[in-house]
Amino acid sequence: MEKALELKNITKHFGSLIANDHIGLTLYKGEILSLLGENGSGKTTLMNMISGIYYPDEGQIFVDGKEVEIKSPKDAFDLHIGMIHQHFKLVDVFTAAENIVLGLEGEKGKLDKKAVHAAVKEIADRYGFEIDPNKKIYDMSVSEKQTVEIVKVLYRGANILILDEPTAVLTPQETNKLFAVMRNMKQDGKAIIIITHKLHEVLDVSDRVVVLRKGKYIGDVETKNASQQSLTDMMVGRAVSLNIDRPHYENQRDTLLVEHLTVRDKEGVKKLDDVTFTARGGEILGIAGIAGSGQRELLESIAGLQHLEEGSKITYINPEGKHIDVNGMDPLDIINNNILLSFVPEDRFGMGLVGGMDITKNVMLRTYRRGASPVLDRKYPLDLSNKIVNDLEVMTPDVNKTPIRKLSGGNVQKVLVGREIECHPTVLMTAYAVRGLDINTSYTIYNLLTEQKMQGVAVIYVGEDLDVLLELCDRLLVLCGGKVSGIVDARKITKEEVGLMMTKVGGGA
Ligand SMILES: Nc1ncnc2c1ncn2[C@@H]1O[C@H](COP(=O)(O)OP(=O)(O)OP(=O)(O)O)[C@@H](O)[C@H]1O
Ligand SMILES: [Mg+2]
Repeated sequence: MEKALELKNITKHFGSLIANDHIGLTLYKGEILSLLGENGSGKTTLMNMISGIYYPDEGQIFVDGKEVEIKSPKDAFDLHIGMIHQHFKLVDVFTAAENIVLGLEGEKGKLDKKAVHAAVKEIADRYGFEIDPNKKIYDMSVSEKQTVEIVKVLYRGANILILDEPTAVLTPQETNKLFAVMRNMKQDGKAIIIITHKLHEVLDVSDRVVVLRKGKYIGDVETKNASQQSLTDMMVGRAVSLNIDRPHYENQRDTLLVEHLTVRDKEGVKKLDDVTFTARGGEILGIAGIAGSGQRELLESIAGLQHLEEGSKITYINPEGKHIDVNGMDPLDIINNNILLSFVPEDRFGMGLVGGMDITKNVMLRTYRRGASPVLDRKYPLDLSNKIVNDLEVMTPDVNKTPIRKLSGGNVQKVLVGREIECHPTVLMTAYAVRGLDINTSYTIYNLLTEQKMQGVAVIYVGEDLDVLLELCDRLLVLCGGKVSGIVDARKITKEEVGLMMTKVGGGA
């Protein structure tokens, strides 16, 4: 096979941290390579050096057998290398076609719109994309935006494509479509690197897997000779159990009553429709449903972030047994009423954390309101930050200098979950808590949630992986189009039954 790309001894430091330590890697034409490694193992850093975002401290890069220097994204483009980042870089008010040609105008002249559309259509047909060149970015779903990003690099002639966690934001159906496109690109001789933490995707789409651990190249393996277990062991460096413990907690108590909850979006469309359930302390209640079935609105309603329709009722029962009506409370009221509620929202930087601040400040953000004293005490948050960093093995140079936006995605999530747990909630809600997390860290999070349950906390877990929902949770509430299609015992139901309930109210059990 012909080499498309070869890396030799690539090394990159960030201060005293070695993010990439003399990494060598080969990518062949017509191959899909998975780059696998725990959070912070250096995957994105390595890819950023191929796409001209970072420049290596040491090492060589060869494209088509020739040594090259990649000093900017433009250099990468000129070498026919295109990277699709997890955070898209599109201009919202422009159409798909305008974004695709953005920056290509060259000699002042305008690009011929017809020709651009024809070229976009040709690419779409060849690889099996669905794309409307006239659609504006702000009208697009995440998956459509991703398509624009990919077509954009193909339009610029990319032969080497790098996709950094492209499936993290996709539904399983969209993921399958993307994989079909990737297979077509491979048939066409393109060389593709994909980063994903989902091992079943690695096994499904790639030909070969390269594993990194703590900045070092560990080895490569042909996908047909790999299993989820073997890849995990290679990634972590020791045998890891892929079973989730599900102990039973004896003294469950009702902690949160949700009755007739109805919520509409700005357009007046019902996002939640007469939802009723009880969350019990000492249990993990899983929320299952296809994406956008009302999961977000449900958690946000409980957290005081949604306007509830007439007739909706949310009641919190405190540890002393007092019923507190939560309706109409905003997040501050909730804190002031000593409702011990923690919320790990789905978008980490939107509501959860401030990217420009260090870990300690982010911890303070959440804890300072809790003490009776208004004095900002930095010692307590500092101790707490160190505890979170130690307990959850957060990779960071320090807790009070580095802004958290510089941490890898998984490490950011560990800080967020760790902080919420350290608030000692009685209700702990998490939305997609393991999105973007490596498998080992995901299991750490599952264990943490189970620990919370065994301390009597009512855990509400919104998840997308049915296998995990069925293994981790005690009961499952299945949502379909904003309605409850069933509340079932997770120990007794099958994956197929839940799948049916997700698509049809009253389907399945
Ligand atoms: N700009 C930066 N400044 C300082 N440290 C950084 C920077 N970028 C990355 N790092 C650090 O380098 C290490 C590798 O990070 P990288 O983002 O490459 O990991 P990753 O394998 O992509 O992780 P994830 O799976 O969580 O995305 C991490 O410890 C991270 O905190
Ligand atoms: Mg990364």
